[in-house]
Amino acid sequence: MVGPQNVHHTGGAVSHVDTTPSEERRGAFTSRRVFILAAIGSAVGLGNIWRFPYVAYENGGGAFILPYLVALLTAGIPFLLLDYALGHRNRGSAPLSFARQSRGTEGLGWWQVGICFMIAVYYAAVLAWAVRYTLFSFTEAWGDDAEAYFFGEFLQVGDPGVTMDFVAGVVFPLALVWLALIVVLVLGVQRGIGAMSMIFIPILIVAFAVLVIYALTLDGAGEGLNTLFTPNWDALSEPGVWAAAYGQIFFSLSIGFGIMITYASYVRRGTDMPGSGLVVGFSNSGFELLAGIGVFAALGFMAQASGVQVSEVASSGVGLAFIAFPTIISEAPLGAFLGVLFFGSLVIAGFTSLVSVIEVVISAVRDKFEMTRRGATLAVSIPAAIVSLIFLGTTSGLYVLDIVDNFINKFGILLVAVVSMVVLAYAVRALPSLAEALNDHTSVHVGAWWRALIAVVAPIALAYVLIRDFLDTLEEPYGGYPEWMLAVFGWGAAGIVIVFGFLAALVPWRPGTSLEVPDLPPTRPGPDRTDRSRPDEEVR
Ligand code: PFF
Repeated sequence: MVGPQNVHHTGGAVSHVDTTPSEERRGAFTSRRVFILAAIGSAVGLGNIWRFPYVAYENGGGAFILPYLVALLTAGIPFLLLDYALGHRNRGSAPLSFARQSRGTEGLGWWQVGICFMIAVYYAAVLAWAVRYTLFSFTEAWGDDAEAYFFGEFLQVGDPGVTMDFVAGVVFPLALVWLALIVVLVLGVQRGIGAMSMIFIPILIVAFAVLVIYALTLDGAGEGLNTLFTPNWDALSEPGVWAAAYGQIFFSLSIGFGIMITYASYVRRGTDMPGSGLVVGFSNSGFELLAGIGVFAALGFMAQASGVQVSEVASSGVGLAFIAFPTIISEAPLGAFLGVLFFGSLVIAGFTSLVSVIEVVISAVRDKFEMTRRGATLAVSIPAAIVSLIFLGTTSGLYVLDIVDNFINKFGILLVAVVSMVVLAYAVRALPSLAEALNDHTSVHVGAWWRALIAVVAPIALAYVLIRDFLDTLEEPYGGYPEWMLAVFGWGAAGIVIVFGFLAALVPWRPGTSLEVPDLPPTRPGPDRTDRSRPDEEVR
């Protein structure tokens, strides 16, 4: 039974066995290394591969490195540590961690859970496309017009609107992606997520490094790199460039989604969290830089092959992955090899990120209700898969994806991040206890600088990005879609998760859940804590 007796360890005689029954039930990573790999798996996603290169190029090229580093150090890593502190101190999913930090803030956690559900629904579709394109690479199925093929034969995109015309070529791989996700998630924290990360992250790094080296050997690669890295120092005086840097760092590190709270809650007490944050933060940025080099080297080749400027072929997102890259693959020597490396990397990077967003939802459901891991995984994944198939498996899937993605990123993730920083810093004054938790075991002492960054610098920077985005969206409706579509899939999606957050917080926790913080670390270091490496044994 999970009861309060397991979570109150009194006085100096703190139990050093931190796998209390409640933790055994939730699951745990067996080591810091596994946690770091899983966190890198979440952080390194499509954002690194298809978003960063173009954002950097558009916002000052080589000069972008300055705002980027400033954003990483003043908001990215500090906020990553905030997420770690919340999860690691309170040992709960996002809603439980917020509730344990301060009762009234539980809704913020559910808001994040709602956002994660939405993201999972559409991100899975991109993965399904990438799976198909990995196979297409062998035969260059797109022929000589990759653009016509993608929108036409492959997605069969119609006019903006919502249809129920399913596209078999998307539905099947999408169902497969969901099945694979379910398998990993049913296996649990260590045997599923941890093991997956230990296998996939090294493969991803090697595959991507080979891709970059190969891309650098292509004719025109140098010109591509010149285009990316030539600094435009004037850009530094534009506020939009700084806003882009903060936006990119934020998305790229997977912060503000509840992911890092959840993963940190699976890490045993006495682990150096700030040190881990630095490793994750710099690894993620390193990967991003590598992606910039690989992508622009390949674009340089494409430009030279078609006799145009690199700026004319530079793009991001869907256009880069499913139109520009297929074209490059068709023209490059060893195209199939390049294709498998590129799309395979997209699949792995996306899959490990997708697992992390769904885990946010599963973990919250398990904390809230009496459910086994298998039960919760199915209760979350099956509805998500169905919604995903209905909205993304049809000829209108691309539109839904584009709108939800844009609005959820801006008015979901960014908004909840700013609100939670302000609430934690000012309304419930949580920063001292969170800093104390971080400093329990650390190689990097978290001092007043951290509190200043979280309470002042990061919220101001992010609020600025958010307000700019908001005003831009009001001025020019996104993407020229019909108003009703923006209202439903844009504002509607971003709004419904807020309503959901507040309603979910009204539902009582399952019996036996204590809102006290379990097994808070002793103020002085305790006896040796090393003999606790036990595998993840979740009670099913
Ligand atoms: N850090 C991830 C990325 O760069 O792609 C962000 C992310 C997106 C995480 C979607 C999870 C997810 F499902």
